[in-house]
Amino acid sequence: MKAFVASFVALALIVASVQVLAQESQADVRAREAEQEMTDDERFSLLISILGNVSGGSIAPDPRVAHLENPSAGWTPGIPRLGIPDLQASDASMGVTNPGYRPDDPGATAFPASIVVGSSFNAELAREGGVAIAREARSRGFNIMLAGGMNLTREVRNGRNFEYYGEDPLLSAILASEQVNGIQSQQVISTLKHYTLNANETNRHWLDAIIDPVGHRESDLLAFQIAIERSQPGAIMSGYNKINGQYAGGSHHLLNEVLKGAWGYKGYVMSDWGATPEWQYALHGLDQESGAQADPFMWGLDTEPFTEPLRQAYADGKLPKERLSDMVRRILRSVYAVGIDKWGPAPAVDMAKHNEIALKIARQGIVLLKNEAALPMPTDEPLKIAVIGGYAQQGVISGTGSGAVAPVGGFESVIKIGGAGVMGKHRNLFLFRPSPVAELQKAFLNAEIEFDPGYTPAEAAMTARRADVVIVFGIRVEGEGFDLPDLSLPWGQDAVIDAVATANPNTVVVLETGNPVSMPWRDNVKAIVQAWYPGQAGAQAIAEVIAGKVNPSGRTPITWPASLTDTPRPTLPGLGTPWGTPVTIRYDEGAEVGYRWYAKKDIKPLYAFGHGLSYTNFAYENLRISGGTVETAAERDGQAVTAVNATTPSVAEAEASLLSGGETVTATFTVTNTGDREGADVPQLYLTAAPDEQRMRLLGFKRVVLKPGESKQVTLTVDPRLLARFDGKANQWRIAEGEYQIALGKSANDLVLMGSADLQGKLFGH
Ligand code: BGC
Repeated sequence: MKAFVASFVALALIVASVQVLAQESQADVRAREAEQEMTDDERFSLLISILGNVSGGSIAPDPRVAHLENPSAGWTPGIPRLGIPDLQASDASMGVTNPGYRPDDPGATAFPASIVVGSSFNAELAREGGVAIAREARSRGFNIMLAGGMNLTREVRNGRNFEYYGEDPLLSAILASEQVNGIQSQQVISTLKHYTLNANETNRHWLDAIIDPVGHRESDLLAFQIAIERSQPGAIMSGYNKINGQYAGGSHHLLNEVLKGAWGYKGYVMSDWGATPEWQYALHGLDQESGAQADPFMWGLDTEPFTEPLRQAYADGKLPKERLSDMVRRILRSVYAVGIDKWGPAPAVDMAKHNEIALKIARQGIVLLKNEAALPMPTDEPLKIAVIGGYAQQGVISGTGSGAVAPVGGFESVIKIGGAGVMGKHRNLFLFRPSPVAELQKAFLNAEIEFDPGYTPAEAAMTARRADVVIVFGIRVEGEGFDLPDLSLPWGQDAVIDAVATANPNTVVVLETGNPVSMPWRDNVKAIVQAWYPGQAGAQAIAEVIAGKVNPSGRTPITWPASLTDTPRPTLPGLGTPWGTPVTIRYDEGAEVGYRWYAKKDIKPLYAFGHGLSYTNFAYENLRISGGTVETAAERDGQAVTAVNATTPSVAEAEASLLSGGETVTATFTVTNTGDREGADVPQLYLTAAPDEQRMRLLGFKRVVLKPGESKQVTLTVDPRLLARFDGKANQWRIAEGEYQIALGKSANDLVLMGSADLQGKLFGH
């Protein structure tokens, strides 16, 4: 019966993929035929998108969008006679945003930041969130979502990391592609962005990101490559920055040779807003100029490059007809492949269900970094709880910039912060209701909760002293257009936390930040909960984690450095220079991003990539690796096997159960919940060394939910590119023949079972 079901499923999958291929080729044919029918005016009309008018914005109102009832971040007129709909693009990855285009909009679901999804290591959540976001987009007439933000965390000072999934290419690719799949399943085109290496915000329009091209292929580009293969996004958004001297949107190498050439990408490339300084980008692979009015504003031009200048270039024979057709066909192909020309009535939007999804993501993405038996707190005792700081009497905070979502009913409050550059006016302290104080009171019905604003260390310490336990909130507003000068908390909060922890040893810290922070008070507090920017349901999820109603299962997708001197760039070039200053940042770590860097340099971080505690314990055993051998960490180090791994098979037993060797490595193992409460674990498979080379790579992971005492067997098959190096001369991936060391761990620094695999040398892929 099982075999029958398996072959039926396999057959269904084959039929489904053949259907997808057929559909795709149909999209190609339709795009070609429609494009052939067009006049040149119609062709050119598709090559720009126009930013909606926002009162008080930096760009003058534009008559071209004056007639629109529903202006957006980018509107492109459709061609009704050919059945081509208007293209309406909206931000973005954490919900449908509204930077003032829709004054009467009732508000959208403010999902947790993407870094929370990253911490969940749960691809299904990324997809569910994508479906919900697309439904809210469709109900507003948006058929393009500028979602799929997936730049890797190279810098813990990058103000926009909260919009992405962390530092690892595989994790980022899997989560971003599932979000895109969710969005596109609702007939809404999604982007993946920002292609590529938009890893810092400071002077991003003038930032030259220098990287070794091979290292680039093994990191940021690999993330895009895998995500594109898994989701076929209708569009790719290029970044603001330069890469090795070429602007991302004008890089013939990255757009024509890599994306469209080596990877065969068939959709279209749109620029970021205000990132098309000249029409020649069309020759280098850019297909559409986004938010066209932003370019004259940014670059001091008379006109928008993809309007008159591009038409003139065509008239002069500088833009070949084939390229013009190609630009148009790529856009149309995505319209047809995703089906935005075939919309029926918008699917129902169930806001209560979307709130549940936002809550689920927050519950799974909150990371318990430290816990000295302080959490969960007892809910049945008449505790005196002091809640201090972080505007916790009002709400939880959000990141800022184009991705910030205004929730139903608006924010609880908006406190203007401001700052340099065009993004300064978008830099606000946004607070989502309900408040942590209210949610904690619901979770601790017998407790007496006193709120203290954390206004001064001395005042906060007085409140802390008269409580049984203290929950102190540390917040930091991070956002688009700004990098962080250091890892401290703003507004003197580190001093407040320190004073509170000194006054009351039972102190728990909850952080709402988009990046790791330095935590000088770390050793003085009992527990640390990293909530990131947990979205509109975040306060509830935080209270549930503290009360133990939710067993935390998030794992940090960013390494927490002990000090900035441990990171690849102790000093961040360009930080502090005035807006408009050219900046060069050398990403000399190449492919060795995040945990890979710490492993290579043998530096112990504050918290390792993949770290996150639970209220239960998990054990791993029976690791079997195709073509390899297995031992425990203790055996490797020549010690006796510890109790945790007591049931791990001996090397001989493991060898006897080897799986057959093949094209890549497959690992099978068992995870057991050895504690007394249900919980979710995220076992992680790493490469730790390749022939003649130390090299750390996350090879696979799986979130597993287990009841007390329950075991599950997990099988992970490795994408061979993660075992390989990119051979820049051959322009292919190369696996060197020899032994590969593989480890199963709880984080990049907590490796539990070791194994190895002998691989044959091979050259493959592109
Ligand atoms: C951001 C993009 C965003 C665009 C449109 C830019 O400032 O970098 O991520 O999609 O604005 O709002």
